Parts: sequence; structure tokens; C-alpha cells
Amino acid sequence: MIPITRLYVGQEEADAAAEAVLSGWLSVGPRAAKFEELVAEQVGAKHAVAVNSATTGLHLALAALGIGPGDEVICPSFTFIATPNSIRYTGATPVFAEIDERTYNIDPAHVEQLITPRTKAIMPASQIGLPADLHALKEIARKHGLHLVEDAAPAYGATIDGVRLGTISDITVFSFDARKILTTGEGGVVTTDDSEVAAKLKALRAHAASISTLTRHTSTAVISESYDEVGFNYKMTDIQAAVGVVQLGKLDHVVKTRRSLAARYDELLAGNASLVLPHEPAGFGHVYQSYLVRLTDHARIDVMNAMAQRGVATRRITACHLEPVYHAGDATPSLSVTERVAADHILLPHFVGLTDEEQDEVVDALNAATA
Ligand SMILES: Cc1ncc(COP(=O)(O)O)c(C=O)c1O
Repeated sequence: MIPITRLYVGQEEADAAAEAVLSGWLSVGPRAAKFEELVAEQVGAKHAVAVNSATTGLHLALAALGIGPGDEVICPSFTFIATPNSIRYTGATPVFAEIDERTYNIDPAHVEQLITPRTKAIMPASQIGLPADLHALKEIARKHGLHLVEDAAPAYGATIDGVRLGTISDITVFSFDARKILTTGEGGVVTTDDSEVAAKLKALRAHAASISTLTRHTSTAVISESYDEVGFNYKMTDIQAAVGVVQLGKLDHVVKTRRSLAARYDELLAGNASLVLPHEPAGFGHVYQSYLVRLTDHARIDVMNAMAQRGVATRRITACHLEPVYHAGDATPSLSVTERVAADHILLPHFVGLTDEEQDEVVDALNAATA
């Protein structure tokens, strides 16, 4: 089977994890601090806060901004279910906006139409590794006094006009799960230039304790923490962080390889008139966490089944507003572009280590299934 992804981790990550295990400190500690320092430097942000997933990072970001019951947060429906779920965790309501038909990212014009007195934030997703139209969204956010909290889970290393994601939005959240650009198994990181928000994120991630465990452990005086509000346990372990430190060093290679694999797919699939290939707008640096094609005249399920029978795995992204957890009967919004794209696209195997032979087989299988 040619899988949808294959991990790009090896001896160096194994050694780093072993070293962390034997160090005597497993929870969030010096390696997490190093990971945060390197992420902040790599994306150019003042602060990075390591967490145990992007999902918890998104929840933490909204909680740090005081978003809660009665508030609305605008997000795309064409995203992973964790995006709206993170909004629901706070008690706020996710309001689903339409996507752009070429980039599959949230449509700023529709976002503006959905703003009400209850709206507190916009949460775009930089889906499958292509940045959302963040500058347009930022302008709307500023105009209406809203926060811009970006779900950049699949887009670590992606750029707009050469600037890496991580500072354009007020708060940016990246995932380091097993299918992302870089991985710590499970994990995430939240970046911001706002020192007050960063301090709040760090406290809330660890039960809102006024003094961190590491500070208490390394103090020669007896110091006691206090708990002034309800926090969470969203800490990244030092084992994950040790793996992450190694992974960060691979970013340039990973992005370069994913982009060249995408260019090769573009070239090999250009002659197939039954497909719409990905679009990278000028100035946008796509990291191709996934390679997405739309099927213009074939039923998606038939194509996925035919490819699976030939040993090629494929996946798809859901329209969250149609999932039972968010479906609201007659009150469900009609998002025609989202519904069309959600129904007719597939994701192809795309990972560092995909060989030319494997990629040729994916292309042959797709061409045969859409002949
Ligand atoms: C757009 C998007 N948001 C959020 C997540 C959740 O990331 P994590 O698994 O780190 O919680 C994912 C991961 O699949 C994602 O693709």
C-alpha cells in the first residue's frame, strides 16, 4: 500500500527522546523551553508556547483572550473538526464562513458579512499548508475590533511575501502531530508577539499556576504557587520537545521536498482533464502538507475505491457544518462552494520519502480511475 503519509523521523529523534527520558526531567521543562526558543526564532515571533496539540493550543488561545459563552467566532467549515471544536470548548459559537473556490481557504468577503455584535474573533485555517488570506482578514479584524487567531495546524513553515506564518495573525497555532510538516508524535505550539497574551497562555497551559513547576523545582527558597482561575493541563512533555528540536532542523529540507513533489504531481497530472490541480496565489508559499485535487466528472467514492484496490491510499476533508455535531437542521447554513469542494476533492499520498516510482503509481492509479 502507498500510504497517505510516512513518518520522517529517525535515529537522531530516537537519541534525543532517549536522552530526555534518561535526564530525570520528563514533563514540560528545559527541552520544551529550547523548543519554544527555536520555534520563536524560526518563525520570527517574540513568543512561542509549546502545548500537547494544536487543538488544545486553539482552545488555549481563545481562553487567553477571554472568549466564552455568548461570543461568536467565525471559522471555515472546510477544515478539520478541531477548528470549530476548539471554539465550542470555550462555550462560544462557531459561525461557519464560505471558502474561496481556488485556494479552499476562508473567504474574507463572506467573513465580513457574518460579523455581528457578538463576534469576538476570526479563526481562519491555513488549510493543507497554504496560508489563508491573512492580510485581508487582518484588515477586517482591525476594522471591527476582532482578534485574529489562526489555525495554522498544517502550515508550519508556510509564508506570505516571504514572511513565515507565526506573526501575521495575533495568535498562530501550529500542529506537530504525526501527519504534519514536522512532528513530535502529538504536539503543538502557539506563537504571538503579544507578551501579555504569551504570559497568559503559559499560565493557562499549566493549571493557571502563578509559578511554574520548573521554577519551584530549581529554587533554593521555598516558594508556593497560587491558583487564581481555572486553567488546563495542556503541557508538552520534554520527550516530545526533544524530538521537536531535532525536527525543527529539518524544516527547510521538508518544505523543499514537499514543494518539489507537488511540482512533479502538477507536471504529471497536467494532462488529465478530469482534475483541478492546486493553486498557489502569487506571494504565497505553500508547504503542501497535503496535495489536493478536485474531480470534475467522476464520483469521489468510486475513485477512492479504485485507487485503494490498486494499493493507493487517499483521504478527504469534511465540511464541518454538515457533520452531525454541527448540523443544525433547517438552520444549517448553505455554503455552496464548501459543499461542492468537500464532495469532489481527494488528497493524494504526499510525504518526504515518496519515491518517483510510488508517485508514478499514484498518478497511474488516478489516471486509470478517472479515464
Ligand atoms: C486544520 C487543522 N486544525 C487543527 C488540527 C488539530 O491538530 P492536532 O492534532 O495537533 O490537535 C488539524 C490536524 O489534523 C488540522 O488539520
